[in-house]
Amino acid sequence: MPNPRPRILLINGPNLNLLGAREPAVYGRETLADIVAATRRHAETRGIGLDDFQSNIEGELVASLHTCHGEKYAGVILNPGAYTHTSVALRDAVAAIGVPCVEVHLSNVHARESFRHASLTAGACKGVIAGFGSLGYRLAVDALCPS
Ligand code: DQA
Repeated sequence: MPNPRPRILLINGPNLNLLGAREPAVYGRETLADIVAATRRHAETRGIGLDDFQSNIEGELVASLHTCHGEKYAGVILNPGAYTHTSVALRDAVAAIGVPCVEVHLSNVHARESFRHASLTAGACKGVIAGFGSLGYRLAVDALCPS
């Protein structure tokens, strides 16, 4: 049977649906749709398919991570938004699925308020990219599927 082309799941957490309008000085002017489209185009140039999901609800993000269990995805790109700093449930879900996950933040969380310096989810991830705006999502594609 021919190898199906690899797929990545891109998951965005709370308030990221408001990108473009939300604190543009921090997060830029691109909408989430712009960012997903640019990330998908980048993945496709590498022969990788990209599915995406956004939710403001912690349990829905956990459920989305659970869909990765098994062989379906080569990796996950996860921006947990504010749940980065609070969610044991998301960390446990990342650890449970056994699929490599790259955590992405548009902003440099380490240069912001001290409550953003700690990530509960990062320890279960393969790596973290922060501070490069939407480029971070494309870098995460490259990190998950190096050519
Ligand atoms: C964020 C950083 C978080 O601290 C914040 O709560 C977000 C966005 C980022 O992409 O920079 O919602 O994850």
